[in-house]
Amino acid sequence: MNGRTDFPSGFLWGAATSAYQIEGGTDEDGRGASIWDTFCATPGKVQNGDTGAIACDSYHRYGQDIALMRELGLNAFRFSIAWPRIVPEGRGRVNEPGLDFYDRLVDELLAAGIRPFVTLYHWDLPQALEDAGGWPERATAEAFAEYVELVARRLGDRVRHWVTHNEPYCSSWLGYAVGVHAPGRTDEAAAVPAAHHVLLSHGLAVDVLRRESRDAQVGIVLDSWPVYPLSDDPRDVEAAWEADGFRNRLFFDPVLRGHYPEDVLERLGATSPPIRNGDLATIAAPIDFVGLNNYSRTIIAANGDGGPRNVPATDAPMTAMGWEIYPHGIYEVLARLHGEYGVGSLYVTENGAAFPDVRGHDGRIEDPERIDYLAQYLGAVARAIADGIPVHGYFVWSLLDNFEWSHGYSKRFGLLYVDYPTLERIPKSSFYWYRDLIGAGRLPQPELVVK
Ligand code: GCO
Repeated sequence: MNGRTDFPSGFLWGAATSAYQIEGGTDEDGRGASIWDTFCATPGKVQNGDTGAIACDSYHRYGQDIALMRELGLNAFRFSIAWPRIVPEGRGRVNEPGLDFYDRLVDELLAAGIRPFVTLYHWDLPQALEDAGGWPERATAEAFAEYVELVARRLGDRVRHWVTHNEPYCSSWLGYAVGVHAPGRTDEAAAVPAAHHVLLSHGLAVDVLRRESRDAQVGIVLDSWPVYPLSDDPRDVEAAWEADGFRNRLFFDPVLRGHYPEDVLERLGATSPPIRNGDLATIAAPIDFVGLNNYSRTIIAANGDGGPRNVPATDAPMTAMGWEIYPHGIYEVLARLHGEYGVGSLYVTENGAAFPDVRGHDGRIEDPERIDYLAQYLGAVARAIADGIPVHGYFVWSLLDNFEWSHGYSKRFGLLYVDYPTLERIPKSSFYWYRDLIGAGRLPQPELVVK
């Protein structure tokens, strides 16, 4: 090696998005309401009262977006399917125009030489299912399997890469215990069964996809921020392990080992997951890959009572989300999933950064911070590959600025700047940097990285 950081041929170079964050068209062609429509309509939940009603209008502008993906040189695009477009009431009646939309999207991607990497659940639960109890109810997992079957029957002949769920931690914990995501409940006794049923529905969906989409590669996307103790004081180390349990192992272990971590179950006590016979085997159905979403890390110290407390990083570089820039963390999680959990195929399904991008007087958007962030994280991914960790693709979050959940449109993650009043897309300098990187298949020498 001469210090160059190469990516293997056949590597998937992608960008990621999700339905509610980019599509808009929430009232069109028979789409039902989702929990995010309701959450956005609830005063005080989303910054500035923003909603996904228009978002980036990708529901209408996807052709233009695909043209930009071609210019970028992507060979894969990660997007999600909006369940309420397919089954507006969550169960029962099927909305054909919803299936038609994704059918066209998939065909146009394939025609452009771009592989669809399809997420089946990126948080937009049909509101009707939440009204019936939401993810804490087992029936929601069954409804998910029915919806997945409809989608797989329609698209399974052309889509090869399927992701069942995006970040079960967020859809269960942030939605039902912390309440910063839809449906905005704050009840740990609801979040634990929600997590179990999200995971169960993953397992049920794996089985459906195996039947309905021959030769499919089926996986799940887990988000993980590595957890570090503030010091090697055993109390901090213990507290960090506890935090890792709730944040990472509660999801890694059932999916990859077929059981919940004992220490987490002990801490949950009476609010243990409602496990029925066979559930854990279903959840641990063999999968073909794990997608990792990683942005930052967590530092934990022990509280007075020994419990975990988040310690903000000091003197560290940060993104506009207030997230520490810590590229070595992505290496550590990839190494953990491969080394400790034996995952044989990995994709980085999200990585990226928000910065307060502005359009200059000359109309351009210079975002050297984002280029620097991506270069550092991709450098860590390249090191992982060089060390034998099987990473087969990388997806920037995100293709374009979009609806950043409770932050509304205030955080820009895109390679493309979206001028919201006109919905015009303007490539940022990171877009051209990523295009050149994809073309070369390797990172520029560190000293050539634009600062
Ligand atoms: C995530 C989400 C994205 C976010 C991104 C930035 O999976 O957390 O997939 O929807 O927008 O992570 O916060």
